[in-house]
Amino acid sequence: MTDIPSPAPPLPVRIAGTGSYVPERVMSNAELEKIVDTSDDWITSRTGIKERRIARANEFTSHMAAKAGQRALEQAEIDPADVDLIIVATITPDTLTPATACYVQQHLGCLKSVAFDVSAACSGFLYALELARHSIGAGAFRNALIIGAEKLSSFVNWSDRNTCVLFGDGAGAAVITPSLNGGGRVLSSQLGTDGAQAELLNIPGGGSSCPITIENAPQQLATLAMQGREVFKHAVNAMKRASIEAISAAGLTSQDIKLLIPHQANLRIIDAIVERLEIAKEDVFINLHKYGNTSAAAVAIALDEAHREGRMERGDKILLVAFGAGLTWASAVIEW
Ligand code: ACO
Repeated sequence: MTDIPSPAPPLPVRIAGTGSYVPERVMSNAELEKIVDTSDDWITSRTGIKERRIARANEFTSHMAAKAGQRALEQAEIDPADVDLIIVATITPDTLTPATACYVQQHLGCLKSVAFDVSAACSGFLYALELARHSIGAGAFRNALIIGAEKLSSFVNWSDRNTCVLFGDGAGAAVITPSLNGGGRVLSSQLGTDGAQAELLNIPGGGSSCPITIENAPQQLATLAMQGREVFKHAVNAMKRASIEAISAAGLTSQDIKLLIPHQANLRIIDAIVERLEIAKEDVFINLHKYGNTSAAAVAIALDEAHREGRMERGDKILLVAFGAGLTWASAVIEW
């Protein structure tokens, strides 16, 4: 029998910089009351959301992604010309093809980089982190820019109160590099998918299974459709499980976690996870009251805001966890 040599362990990687961008325009719950049959009280009590940001008509996902990416590169002190991998996580691309990452490459002038998108809904930024971690860890790339960016306002049915009150626009980014001796090191990561539940949350039209035609255009099929109650249950269970697995894979317990940065979809989902993980409420970063659910951008924006607000100190263990359409879920533990 031939001995197959074990692969070399991947090089550790770190988050060298973070950045985020949200559009200027604020849409409050009071404004939504004028559009659909809803109330500030219903939205606040069921979700925790008070307002969201809405991009201008000529402001695309790639523009927001590039602004967040530029801020992350500035913080990491990395020249755009030295970026060799760009991954954009989004379900609201500028165009079906090419990838939004290609436009970002152009906007930022990262001309030597490989650029592509991942589609994993709200888990997308953590999927991108895992791809970058292994690509850099294997030595294939050196400086990766990962971005979660969404213009969900273009994919929401503004006459459907079940969904339009939930979502917002924005982008968050991180620069991933080999970890020579610095903080921000990724200790563990867990990803999961359950395609059998794909129908619970999707954009049914606009793809090859249901092109938009003159006949079906009034049905607004290229907008988000969600069975909210079912998604809620799956979200709590999957995020709890993914959190426990990532904490355990890092050789830690939940008592070691200094800050939890969860996907920002619903305060009640976050409360349920926090209770099950027995993490103190003050150790949880929340900004969904300001932005609503920005899907792939949510964890990335929250990570950047937590960083810039000084919520993480060198050596702190940070847990990131997300859940979204697919169904998909993902978690990561980082030593800051
Ligand atoms: N204003 C007023 N009433 C409303 C609104 C609204 N905006 N939306 C729904 N209602 C009504 C419903 O019609 C329903 O009325 P009925 O009882 O007369 O039928 C009632 O409120 C209760 O509706 P539910 O759907 O049961 O409300 P629920 O408490 O479940 O909250 C919500 C809905 C907020 C959507 C919740 O289910 C949720 O957060 N689900 C998970 C969302 C999520 O995590 N998504 C994952 C990621 S998203 C992505 O991947 C892109």
